[in-house]
Amino acid sequence: MKYLTKGELCDKLSAPIFHEISATADELDVECYVVGGYVRDLFLERPTNDIDIVVVGSGIAMAEALAKRLGKRANLSVFRNFGTAQVKYRGQEIEFVGARKESYTHDSRKPIVEDGSLEDDQNRRDFTINAMAVCLNASRFGELVDPFNGLRDLEDGIIATPLDPDITFSDDPLRMLRCIRFATQLNFMIEDETFEALERNKDRLEIISTERICDELQKIMRSPTPSKGFIDLYRSGLLHLILPELVAMDLVETRNGKSHKNNFYHTLEVLDNIAKVTDNVWLRWGALLHDIGKPKSKRWEVSIGWTFHNHNFIGLKMVPNIFRRLKLPLDERMKYVQKLVGLHMRPIAIADEEVTDSAVRRLLFEAGDDIEDLMTLCEADVTSKNEVRKKTFMHNFQLVRQKLVDIEEKDRVRNFQPPVSGDEIMDLFDLQPCREVGILKQSLKDAILDGIIPNERAAALNYICEKAHNMGLTKSLSATIE
Ligand code: CTP
Repeated sequence: MKYLTKGELCDKLSAPIFHEISATADELDVECYVVGGYVRDLFLERPTNDIDIVVVGSGIAMAEALAKRLGKRANLSVFRNFGTAQVKYRGQEIEFVGARKESYTHDSRKPIVEDGSLEDDQNRRDFTINAMAVCLNASRFGELVDPFNGLRDLEDGIIATPLDPDITFSDDPLRMLRCIRFATQLNFMIEDETFEALERNKDRLEIISTERICDELQKIMRSPTPSKGFIDLYRSGLLHLILPELVAMDLVETRNGKSHKNNFYHTLEVLDNIAKVTDNVWLRWGALLHDIGKPKSKRWEVSIGWTFHNHNFIGLKMVPNIFRRLKLPLDERMKYVQKLVGLHMRPIAIADEEVTDSAVRRLLFEAGDDIEDLMTLCEADVTSKNEVRKKTFMHNFQLVRQKLVDIEEKDRVRNFQPPVSGDEIMDLFDLQPCREVGILKQSLKDAILDGIIPNERAAALNYICEKAHNMGLTKSLSATIE
């Protein structure tokens, strides 16, 4: 964080738009402040385009006067029901609202609103770091109004509510997720009393729409170290309401002195590992959910110990329910996550043994264009503290990656299309759609993926004819396929 003097704040607010707002406010003779996230981000030196303006008076009248002053290039929208207005000007969105006092009823996020002072308006805001205002009137231009020491909290890296956190969270329970989200994005600590209020008020989350919950979750997922958010969600009890499947992974059982690893903390380590190398939020979701099937698949087998057979398959089947519940997209993005969950063991299994052409060819065929992302997930999945073991895995992954390149160059199986189609097989042997066609197609695919024949048409035709002959099928006299 950078501490800014009044002079420096004035410099930061030197864009012409602030002077236009200032002149408009003075003309209307109303107090006017830039407030909230914009002020916070000025100190954090984070880029922002959205400017929130509070007017001690009518926000709508102020926006109308500003739009008139700016002329044709300004675009005004008025939301009379909410008492707010927006001016769009040169790529910036400026929101206007009159200073207000808010009170809430128990079962709704919609407040009862009354006109109020700047102080009332700051009292109703979510966190001290979001409650700072800078005056824009010419006589006090650049003066910071910071009644809750938000600046000190910014400096100390603390998220705290301005008033009693039970009231702040109960008024608008979405703020509980915003609290954890800001702490994660900014790598801040949540102040103790504020954190305890999260635990006490967690059940109020039920009045929040899934879309809003999911928005915050996605912001946590996109943060530099998402595990921080998930640990805070877990410790506060909010994760139990949002993603109980993840909570179920925090269980370590021991039998005959043998324990399995804690899959919750392992998953979070994988998530952080992957966040270091990709901004692709769906790949991050793949990391978060890769072991989600483990609790359901866990068995104790006397001769082996703990096993998680088929956890990848069970996991991929769980993904649609989770996506549906969280209102995440049920399209190709979900399928991509399912594919990652389903295949996440494969490169490890290959790397653990001898890296054969045929295993790599099959992997390439199943992963298709997502092979790179799958390899990235698998590398992130190596959380072993045994350096020798880790080195061996990484070395073998390098071999797998090299073989992937060689094999794709030679056999082009990444987006595999069989060199002889089902229709052609039917034509060749005068067949209607039937079991034999399926068998021939599958055996051709296997022969190519296992490297028995090259991925070429002539070799494929030969192979099919030989196989068909062995099955007692005869070539059609009228077949035209060469
Ligand atoms: N605010 C609040 N309670 C909320 C949402 C917003 O008190 N549930 C207040 C805060 O003062 C916040 C301001 O409204 O700073 C603007 O809100 P918004 O644009 O949603 O958030 P930002 O703080 O700007 O941050 P981000 O854009 O990252 O959400």
